[in-house]
Amino acid sequence: MNFEETQSYNQLKKHSIFLSDTNIYNLFKQDKNRFLKFSRSFDDILFDFSKNLIDEKAFDLLIKIAEQLNLKEKIQDMFDGVKINATEKRSVLHTALRTNSKSIKVDGKNIIDDIKATNKAMYAFAESVRNGSFKGINGTRILDVVNIGIGGSYLGPLMAVEALKPYKTPLINFHFVSNVDSTDIKETLKKLSPETTLFIIASKTFTTDETMTNAKTAKEWLVKTLGEKAIGYHFCAVSSNIDLAIKFGIQKENIFGFGDYVGGRYSMWGPIGLPLLIAIGQEKFNEFLNGARKADEHFSTTPFEKNIPVIMALLSIWNINFFGITASAVLPYDNYLKYVPLYLQQLVMESNGKSIDRNGQPVSYKTCPIVFGEVGTNGQHSFYQLLHQGTEKILCDFILPIISHNEIGSHQTKLLANGIAQTEALMKGKSSKEVIEELKAQKLSDAEIKKLLPYKMFSGNRPSNTFLIKKITPTTLGMLIAFYEHKTFTEGIFWNINSFDQFGVELGKQLAKRILNDLQNPSSDLVNEYDSSTSSLIEIIKGIRK
Ligand code: F6P
Repeated sequence: MNFEETQSYNQLKKHSIFLSDTNIYNLFKQDKNRFLKFSRSFDDILFDFSKNLIDEKAFDLLIKIAEQLNLKEKIQDMFDGVKINATEKRSVLHTALRTNSKSIKVDGKNIIDDIKATNKAMYAFAESVRNGSFKGINGTRILDVVNIGIGGSYLGPLMAVEALKPYKTPLINFHFVSNVDSTDIKETLKKLSPETTLFIIASKTFTTDETMTNAKTAKEWLVKTLGEKAIGYHFCAVSSNIDLAIKFGIQKENIFGFGDYVGGRYSMWGPIGLPLLIAIGQEKFNEFLNGARKADEHFSTTPFEKNIPVIMALLSIWNINFFGITASAVLPYDNYLKYVPLYLQQLVMESNGKSIDRNGQPVSYKTCPIVFGEVGTNGQHSFYQLLHQGTEKILCDFILPIISHNEIGSHQTKLLANGIAQTEALMKGKSSKEVIEELKAQKLSDAEIKKLLPYKMFSGNRPSNTFLIKKITPTTLGMLIAFYEHKTFTEGIFWNINSFDQFGVELGKQLAKRILNDLQNPSSDLVNEYDSSTSSLIEIIKGIRK
């Protein structure tokens, strides 16, 4: 069943039409307690969703729909290891990587034992790299760690290492190579010395072409200076495919695996988080997991009306499916969170960018929005023009840490003032009366005012959510990211889609293989058949690269 098939859908639809006649600012004027009613706190995170076109009736109906969709049972199914990733016949248990539970069974086997054993080995390995007891072939300590991986094997650690930079060991630098574009690896290797470099080949499958191409180049670079024997000293792997990793030359004890119940984009809580573990150490890494675990407990036990990830999803459904919003902006006001939009792009769009439901039928409603974002205030001087005056309404998530890791003078207060001002401006807008008064005060003539008026007005009534976070710490980061994971899952329940497969990435990969074959074929005739655009592009490239 999807949200449109529930008992309360029609009532909510009707109510959304009724609410379209008012605006968010009016709702604030009518109710002094609006902020209290439409904000929730958990630990060091406050979630303010009062700047949405929502009232108590709509909120209650959305919760009813969640109940009618059996959301509670479905959450439990995920935590219990039911194979909810039906197309791939897999459990969805990234939460097991951060649980306190002693037993979670998949196919009759307790996976917690495996997770614990891997963690023990991985923690010891990370500590040896951090304290210098792990040495390169020439006996020198590791000064640079290069993560080679893509998608979920890249974005999570990249985002988290950057977000938690204030906790990073100063002794080691971290680099991330993901793109098959040779510039990525060339520019990275330029800065490094083979003797002091450790490569982490992060690939669940150990077959992803981009990663394996980069891994091969890294290997050649290393072997050229240090010889074949050095591979065992300077490479480790995070992969479920132990055989292929060994074949590559990596020592078995330096391979850290994880089960197929952890999807790529949900994997940074386990071995894929190795760069983060090396960067911040076991104690802080555990705080990161604890933050996510607290979010898991909150998600699985809190009534929906107080449940932050559930509410995040309800707002998303409300804005997308009742008010036609098709894009969502992630706007962190903290430079250390600069990769959070990039990370959420994969988490959200690879999970829910789908149009076939769990029954194999095309959906008749919108699903995943386009996700984009940038740190404040940089975004303000770029695409915020569209957020305020464009034809599209965008659902904005403002992420505002109150205390900076780098407090200097008035920087942080200015940053926060900017973030809050944006939420107010989007909601309130600027009326013709306000514009006229402002222009009159600037001594403009009536004719000039008349001409400028339409350009200077802001329609307002644009929704936003605000996360006010005391400070970005391993705990609050873990919590925030887990909230987004659970929001994504909940959206999938409303849309009745499987948020855990990603067949959409396959077609391009398949076609690229054929095209590569033709690009590498020295004879001028194309072996494969194409449309005239594709064949011409191939021929032109072949002509120039010959
Ligand atoms: O983008 C598709 C995908 O399968 C992601 O889900 C995954 O995170 C990424 O490729 C990398 O896969 P692997 O870890 O197997 O190299």
